[in-house]
Amino acid sequence: MHQTVDHVRLSEDGGALIILDQRRLPLHREYLTLTEKQQMYDAIKSLAIRGAPAIGIFAAFGMTVLARSMPLGDRAAFDREFLASSAYLNSSRPTAVNLGWALGRMERVLAANPTLPPEALLPLLRQEAQNILDEDIAMCTAISEYGLSLLKPGDGVLTHCNAGPIATSRYGTAIGPLILGAERGIRLRAFSDETRPLLQGARLTSYELQRAGVDVTLICDNMASMVMKNGWVQFCFVGCDRVAANGDAANKIGTSGVAILAKHYGIPFYVLGPSSTVDLKTPTGADIPIELRSEDEIRSKWYAEPMALPEVKCYNPAFDVTDHELIAGIITEKGICRPPYTESLRKLFA
Ligand code: MRU
Repeated sequence: MHQTVDHVRLSEDGGALIILDQRRLPLHREYLTLTEKQQMYDAIKSLAIRGAPAIGIFAAFGMTVLARSMPLGDRAAFDREFLASSAYLNSSRPTAVNLGWALGRMERVLAANPTLPPEALLPLLRQEAQNILDEDIAMCTAISEYGLSLLKPGDGVLTHCNAGPIATSRYGTAIGPLILGAERGIRLRAFSDETRPLLQGARLTSYELQRAGVDVTLICDNMASMVMKNGWVQFCFVGCDRVAANGDAANKIGTSGVAILAKHYGIPFYVLGPSSTVDLKTPTGADIPIELRSEDEIRSKWYAEPMALPEVKCYNPAFDVTDHELIAGIITEKGICRPPYTESLRKLFA
């Protein structure tokens, strides 16, 4: 079954990648047309495309575009160029394992067909990118069903950052259960952390939930404790960029703080993610590389005037790791993993 999504797709002739520019949301729905590897690298790095599964899908389709202008008459040269471009895209952001996972799948198309001429590889590469997209849609739908099965009408769910349809393919992970619930007429309430410093919760999550008809309230990150204390949320649902073998989960900076608050208030904290985010090769959260981003995202971005002196030192890690001990369950397309995660993750994903 071939499916498309509006926010990452190929042009009609397959010669360009067209993406929704997430930096312009929520007020502007603008699309970028990309044909060069530098443009694709920049799109990931600058968060025009973001969200762990979405950058994997993007990179896979991106490789099909780039492959068309590689040396089609020389298989060895084609392979060299393909692997170099794949490594280059993979170097754009380090934390989400989905990027390397999807590029690895594309590289394996070459490895599995060592004697085919490059021209004959092109449709196979396109098919593999399509498979990655189709599988993500199926995984997000299943994750949303599992997440929804935990909720009852009237429940409130707090989420952090954006793990919605535009961060994936369709439905999303962390907010997928809420969107599915709205489709089925189940009354649920969402609280979306704005998510400093890049405001994915404000710009993207509240936008997606509002459009889906979910009762969503946007809060600043430092209001989560108050919302929990008020008894307004029964669950925390967050996405993930990489889940280590012991269940430690990297997600947007601030996620671990939400988990610590949730523990204090006795609110179950769930991580939702597809198998492409589970990385059994990474033993613990301490082994997950954490992206550091520009200091200007803290000092001056979004403000009419800078909010700090230009020479003030800033620390801007883009992700943090939530300790597995704070996680009530990891909701995947194969079911809900419970502690001890070393065993439950291995059972489903080894
Ligand atoms: O820096 P971002 O916006 O790409 O960070 C995204 C997140 O942290 C998401 O929660 C994660 O990628 C899961 S998306 C289903």
